[in-house]
Parts: sequence; structure tokens; C-alpha cells
Amino acid sequence: MNILETHALKKIYGTGDTAVHALDGIDLTVAKGEFLAIVGTSGSGKSTLLHMLGGLDRPTSGSVTVDGKDIFSLKDEALTIFRRRKIGFVFQNYNLVPVLSVRENIVLPVQLDGNTPDGIYVHSVIETLGLESKLNNLPFNLSGGQQQRVAIARALAAKPAILLADEPTGNLDSKTSQDVMGLLKVSGQKFGQTIVMITHNEELAQMADRIVRIEDGRIVVRG
Ligand SMILES: Nc1ncnc2c1ncn2[C@@H]1O[C@H](COP(=O)(O)OP(=O)(O)O)[C@@H](O)[C@H]1O
Ligand SMILES: [Mg+2]
Repeated sequence: MNILETHALKKIYGTGDTAVHALDGIDLTVAKGEFLAIVGTSGSGKSTLLHMLGGLDRPTSGSVTVDGKDIFSLKDEALTIFRRRKIGFVFQNYNLVPVLSVRENIVLPVQLDGNTPDGIYVHSVIETLGLESKLNNLPFNLSGGQQQRVAIARALAAKPAILLADEPTGNLDSKTSQDVMGLLKVSGQKFGQTIVMITHNEELAQMADRIVRIEDGRIVVRG
């Protein structure tokens, strides 16, 4: 079953002479439980694609279907709720709340959605990511790799169907990047989540089940 599908997805920024065709007709399917890497040079449209996959921004034309739902048929408010329930995001900048502890950061989105975190599940995520001893720390006391592990735990805590990661190791050294990627992969497998990860690091991309390459807003190689 495909958890994620795009059809003829296009995104044009601006109009007239200055228009940028960031996505120029993307057809992509991702199977449930798959770990997909999207690679491509800077400016090729990777982040734009990820934003569309997660419903953060609307395409100019085309569709994105998540778990059988055409997400852009939803009005903004319904789309926001759908996104919160189904999609986890991990960005290059960890975006942790500086005045909250690691534990508080991890459960914050679940609480903001008006839910009580599933304690046993969250603990399992924390253990998998090796964060047990850091739960009461504030983010500034953590290394970059640890902060990104917290951001991954936070994304997983809401049990999203899909985890979308945009250059998650972009600010980390190569050894730490490998470690964080390994944990991301293990977490995805353990908790049955589908992962779509953008990277321009070919070596890291090799850790995925499949690699798709994008150039000038088009898919040029399918794994
Ligand atoms: N908000 C925006 N407004 C105008 N142009 C944008 C915007 N976001 C991205 N672009 C342009 O769209 C193209 C693709 O950008 P992006 O998706 O960020 O690429 P990547 O993530 O692969 O580096 C680039 O030419 C970029 O300059
Ligand atoms: Mg980008």
C-alpha cells in the first residue's frame, strides 16, 4: 500500500519573467514503512517537495495523497489538523524550545494537540534514541547530535504515519551524522513509520531503502 503519492505536482514561485518552476511535474509513490532518500543539488527543489508532501505549503497544481486522502482538498484548518496527526517533521535546525527540558520538548506537540502522550511508547522512543539520561536537561546543554535526536524523538512522539526530514544531519559532523541516521532508520523500522529524507550527502543516502534524484524540479533517477 502506498502511504504517500504525488501526481503531476508543480510549484511555481512568483510570476512572469521572475517565475521559478521549483517543481515541474513530480510523480512519486512511497510505500508504507519505506525509507526513501531524496537527493539533488542545492536549488533542485528538494525542500519545496518536502513542504508539499507535508502540506506546509500548497502546490500550484497537482496532488498529494497521504494515507488515501487528497490533502490539498482540505481547507487550511483541516489541513493543519491532518498534518499534526499524520506527519512528523525534522529540520536541519533542531527548533527545540530553549526554556523547556528535553522531556518537555518531546511531548510538547502531543500536548498542544490536546492529547496525553502515550508514556510507554514515548519512553521506548527515548530509549531507542539514547536520551534517557538527558531528559531533564535544557537544549543548550546538549551537543548538536543530541539536539537532533531530541527533535527526532519529538517528531516520533505523536506517532506520525510519515516522518519528513530535510537535511536532518546538515549541521552535524560525519561521524555524528552516521549515528543520527542509524537511529532514524532504526526508529522508523521499530515504530513502523515511513521516512522521507532529503540529503545532499550521497553516503548517507545509501542507508535508505531507495534513492530518488531530483534536478530542476523533476525526478531524474528512481531507485
Ligand atoms: N519561497 C520562495 N520564493 C521564491 N523562490 C523560492 C522559494 N523557495 C524556494 N525557491 C526557489 O525554488 C527553487 C527550489 O528551492 P528549494 O526547494 O529550496 O531547493 P533545495 O531544497 O533543493 O535546495 C530554488 O530556485 C529556490 O530559489
Ligand atoms: Mg533545501
